[in-house]
Amino acid sequence: MRVLNTVESLQSVLQSARESGKTIGFVPTMGNLHQGHLSLVEKAGDSCDLVVVSIFVNPLQFAAGEDLDTYPRTLAEDRAKLEQQGCDILFAPTVAEMYPEGQRIETQVDLPTLSQMHCGITRPHFFKGVATVVVKLLCMVLPTRAFFGEKDRQQLTIIRQVVKDLSLPVVIEGVPTIREPSGLAMSSRNGYLSDAGRERAAYLYRLLSEVREQIEQGARDYPALQQRANQALAAEGFEPDYFHICQQQSLQPASESDRELAILAAAKLDGTRLIDNIAFRISPLA
Ligand code: PAF
Repeated sequence: MRVLNTVESLQSVLQSARESGKTIGFVPTMGNLHQGHLSLVEKAGDSCDLVVVSIFVNPLQFAAGEDLDTYPRTLAEDRAKLEQQGCDILFAPTVAEMYPEGQRIETQVDLPTLSQMHCGITRPHFFKGVATVVVKLLCMVLPTRAFFGEKDRQQLTIIRQVVKDLSLPVVIEGVPTIREPSGLAMSSRNGYLSDAGRERAAYLYRLLSEVREQIEQGARDYPALQQRANQALAAEGFEPDYFHICQQQSLQPASESDRELAILAAAKLDGTRLIDNIAFRISPLA
């Protein structure tokens, strides 16, 4: 595996790869890699000749007071995991390499509707930072396919929208969430939880699954289901942020006639913000 830190070296290596007809699979990450990330790398390897992974903790997507400074940076361990997973190129730029003119860059990618719902309500800065860095990375790597986890469903939806709106020549692949045996979705932020906290955190997925079952069995009063779910989270010691039953593609609130649904939820447990979601299709009521 080659480790590259500059945009120039990355572009020169990838230019040669493209000239020799290789397809490029790209997995952007912020590091502190777990099995969820490695499943993206595996998928990239299954469908592309060359796998590029980036590790960059993007300051643009953190607001003041969030965990930018304490976000786990574990480059040596990440490097070993990527090597073992068959990654070909690790791109690990510095902040100055990514934002040579400083972080107040003039051109930013904003999706005023999609980025202000769900997680965007309490993190209004977040998706602009994500969309901007992802577009920069896609322009640097020019991959054939780029891989994102379904765990971050709103992020995945936003990236798909950006690629469509800007006609970027890349195929976006969503990869299913990898879960702990308890059902807890794997996430770098799970590391902030104690062992007992991790066990309790698994309740979020159990609740998502329970509400899905209720909908599959005919429940259609979505505002009431959402309200009860928030109460149930609070009763289990979570600080609920949102619990939304949505249309799967648009992520707009679902109505009774929608068949393709996603339930998105975010809640804090012991100060750690957890997000998860579940997507499913229901048949029309008999
Ligand atoms: O999902 C993440 O790890 C980040 O939001 C991403 C896509 C790498 C952009 O910084």
